[in-house]
Amino acid sequence: MKADLIVGLQWGDEGKGKIVDHLAQNADVVCRFAGGHNAGHTIVVDGTKYALHLLPSGVLNPEAINIIGNGVVVSPENLIDKEMKQFDYLEDRLFLSDKAHLLLPYHSLIDQAKEKLRKRAIGTTGKGIGPAYADKILRVGHRVGELHHADKLAEKIANYFELNRVLFSALEIGTPTKDELLKDLNRYYEKLKPYIADTTQMIWKHLDDGKRVLLEGAQGTMLDIDHGTYPFVTSSNTVSAGACTGLGLNPKDIGKVTGIAKAYCTRVGNGPFPSEDFGEDGEKMAQIGQEFGTTTGRKRRCGWFDAVALKHASRLNGCDEIALMKLDVLDGFKEVKVCVAYEFEGQEIDYVPYDLEDVKPIYKSFKGWDIVEGVREYDKLPDEAKAYVKALEELTMTKIGIISTSPDRKDTIIIK
Ligand code: IMP
Repeated sequence: MKADLIVGLQWGDEGKGKIVDHLAQNADVVCRFAGGHNAGHTIVVDGTKYALHLLPSGVLNPEAINIIGNGVVVSPENLIDKEMKQFDYLEDRLFLSDKAHLLLPYHSLIDQAKEKLRKRAIGTTGKGIGPAYADKILRVGHRVGELHHADKLAEKIANYFELNRVLFSALEIGTPTKDELLKDLNRYYEKLKPYIADTTQMIWKHLDDGKRVLLEGAQGTMLDIDHGTYPFVTSSNTVSAGACTGLGLNPKDIGKVTGIAKAYCTRVGNGPFPSEDFGEDGEKMAQIGQEFGTTTGRKRRCGWFDAVALKHASRLNGCDEIALMKLDVLDGFKEVKVCVAYEFEGQEIDYVPYDLEDVKPIYKSFKGWDIVEGVREYDKLPDEAKAYVKALEELTMTKIGIISTSPDRKDTIIIK
């Protein structure tokens, strides 16, 4: 059996939560492969709100197994004290890779202190994602499996503090003593021990047994550390290739790839965003689309659908189809625009160049429509909305297989 994959195609917040939640209802296993508690979505089930950051969306399906893979950076504090607390049935349903790296409180403090010092801040979530991945790559990070020997781990972290004394002092960050560290690590271990596992072997077995495995991406393609708008990106590979390294799969293990994109575009944090709309339309999208971050509460920047970046993202991820989210947010707009090319160094181009900072959008306008909110069949969409969807398919060279017309699970059009 092959695993199905869901990835974000823009700058995150595309509405992956609704689709993953929907697909997780039929999955046996749901896996997270990258990022940390910078990601987030809120899911409401029977009137109860659940905030998920690190936990895969499968936790809301009582039958599914959930895996946090080796490519994720795990904050034990966030996982134990905020997320796991919401559920009392996680044992034997949640597994945490022993190779995932620990994101500890000092990572967040370094992240926040460095952001303040930057001339042009990245606008990180301040959760410590960059410093935790940096330590992993520098080979001075600590893995979840080391919690099995908390005393040795406390010793290693104390040495790390000693080695980085100058940095901590310059950033005015206090560090805990070895005893304080050990106390915290022992607490983490006590809570996480039942969940720590070799998750790679586990996923292989599930695939070999013919189980339905769903791989859940975090953030979006344009925030990928290699392929995004560097340095205004997150610190992991958010693209589909990240699912291989972040879980221990090979490319042949991956089946259908669904890319998630909003019918317009948003971005939170700093960095280039060619189709950003600074006027009334952008403001309208923010208000109607409730574009405020789930993790930090920050208002998202809004703009038009960028078909150039989307075509690039679709190719990078190997998308079989796109799920087009929040089409209803554009209800009532007289005119809807799509960025179809960029002006770059005096020329018109239809690809993503080295740096998006220097491009200007070239738009094509479409006639707006009255209402798609709540529509559940493609044929019932207004003709103008159909024309818009068709144009996006052509411009991105990717089939649109799903259209979402409201936050409600049922207001979803599946196109055969
Ligand atoms: P970091 O991942 O906290 O280091 O933040 C780096 C950049 O990624 C910032 O622009 C963040 O706003 C953005 N970012 C991180 N996680 C998300 C997310 O889940 N949705 C949207 N943007 C995100």
